Amino acid sequence: MPGWLAVLPIITATRLLSKLMRGVVLISGSGSNLQSIIDKAADIDLTISCVVSNRSDAYGLTRAENAGIPHHLVEHTQFDSRTAFDQAVSKIIDQYSPDIVILAGFMRIFTEAFAQKYCGKMLNIHPSLLPKFQGLNTHQRALDAGEKEHGVSIHFVTVQLDGGPVIAQSRVDIIPSDDAISLAKKVLIEEHKLYPEVIHWFTQGRLQLKDGKAVLDGKAL
Ligand code: GRF
Repeated sequence: MPGWLAVLPIITATRLLSKLMRGVVLISGSGSNLQSIIDKAADIDLTISCVVSNRSDAYGLTRAENAGIPHHLVEHTQFDSRTAFDQAVSKIIDQYSPDIVILAGFMRIFTEAFAQKYCGKMLNIHPSLLPKFQGLNTHQRALDAGEKEHGVSIHFVTVQLDGGPVIAQSRVDIIPSDDAISLAKKVLIEEHKLYPEVIHWFTQGRLQLKDGKAVLDGKAL
């Protein structure tokens, strides 16, 4: 038997014994970030317990279906207040008792109560180099501002919209021929690499929110 074959049962047993963290992923659209997390879930010690979308036309729901992941639609248009919508989403999330709540292109603003409830275990991905360009249309705004570089940030979610402590960023150069579409494509490539990596830090217990700061391996980021 080749030597590498002998260690296979050990690797398999180690993986089975290591505790996978349970994650709930919230989406609103294409779900390409969701897909990158699905594809790497086994390598980043994550099991995706469910996917929640606030839009029925979100292709991410099909991605969840194809991957055999339970998925729920909670349409914000069916609720007459942000609070009622948040409570409905929260009720679903809590059924799965997740260790981590992953916002992956979820385009709704939460109430403070919701942000506080999951504070310390809710991450968001934002397509800009925060604190620059919080909010929407980040790629066009970066171009209009004459930026030379742009990128993506992953941060803990706190009560400030796109304002929680940044954990990691990835940069791309802006070149003269870029438009919002080409820039979005370049940034998405970085998003798909960075988000699973940061989630892995969390599932390994290396990443925490402490005293309002993101802390990795005991050091404030
Ligand atoms: C990404 O650019 C993400 O940073 C932003 O919304 C987009 C979602 O893309 N918040 P996808 O649905 O993951 O393809």
